[in-house]
Amino acid sequence: MEHGFSDVRKLHFAKKGHIISVAVMPEFRRMGIGRGLVEYALSALSSLSADECFLEVRISNDPAIELYNRLGFQIARTISRYYYDGSDAYVMVRVIK
Ligand SMILES: CC(C)(COP(=O)(O)OP(=O)(O)OC[C@H]1O[C@@H](n2cnc3c(N)ncnc32)[C@H](O)[C@@H]1OP(=O)(O)O)[C@@H](O)C(=O)NCCC(=O)NCCS
Repeated sequence: MEHGFSDVRKLHFAKKGHIISVAVMPEFRRMGIGRGLVEYALSALSSLSADECFLEVRISNDPAIELYNRLGFQIARTISRYYYDGSDAYVMVRVIK
């Protein structure tokens, strides 16, 4: 959990849950596990009274972006050269309450 400026409501302070990493072994993908992991994290953040949740995702990572879109996340901004190989990241955000 972090405290800082909201990615959703300009100039508002917010309690922000930060999802650092989500991964499912290749042989178990497309079975709903990734969705379940993120839904579990969102539920835990709701219990902690978080206002919103955010994460970074490589802009070329279509499967993950699709997953997060399906769970109500939207692209808030882009961070240039976020990854070690120079790739950019989207910051995606979702309101919790
Ligand atoms: C992204 C990742 C976690 C998804 O996990 P998963 O268990 O396969 O995802 P789910 O089965 O829960 O998929 C839920 C929804 O996400 C979307 N989705 C997941 N994989 C997708 C793919 N390859 N292509 C398009 N949409 C995809 C679909 O909308 C899917 O719903 P559907 O199966 O009913 O169509 C998994 O692909 C992964 O581990 N990737 C490598 C690590 C990674 O990139 N992590 C994210 C870092 S930010």
